[in-house]
Amino acid sequence: MKRRELISLFGVAGIAAFLPVALAACSSEKTETTGKTEKTTTTAPKDWQQVGTVAELDKKGQLLLEKSPAGAVLVVGTSASKTLTAVNPTCTHSGCIVGWNNKVNKFECGCHGSEFALDGKVLEGPATEPLKGYASKIEKGAVFIKAV
Ligand code: FES
Repeated sequence: MKRRELISLFGVAGIAAFLPVALAACSSEKTETTGKTEKTTTTAPKDWQQVGTVAELDKKGQLLLEKSPAGAVLVVGTSASKTLTAVNPTCTHSGCIVGWNNKVNKFECGCHGSEFALDGKVLEGPATEPLKGYASKIEKGAVFIKAV
């Protein structure tokens, strides 16, 4: 084997040997970035978070905010009602967003038919776990929730 052929072969082999290392370095950076993002989005803040205004809540008797620092939030009630209910409307079966049906007073999931009571308990499957609840309050014209 001539010297030129050896260098050429080593060059291709060197690139081939370096390529997996370079790809691994790139993918580990992405993993770290993804890890940071997941960590910040899954950590529910312990302080009160504003999710809307009383005017928005009173308009429909419910207030949905799919993306808040605490996660998805559905508040049911009005400023005139004695109590507010706030849940994470992510269905515990497969993750669809449930809706509040005022006519039958329950949360309903349009994906596979699960139903939940006002307190989040399962009324009808296939879901088996209750909806997660939040503490909620109205203050100075705004609606607030807090992880419990
Ligand atoms: Fe709600 Fe399946 S995702 S019942």
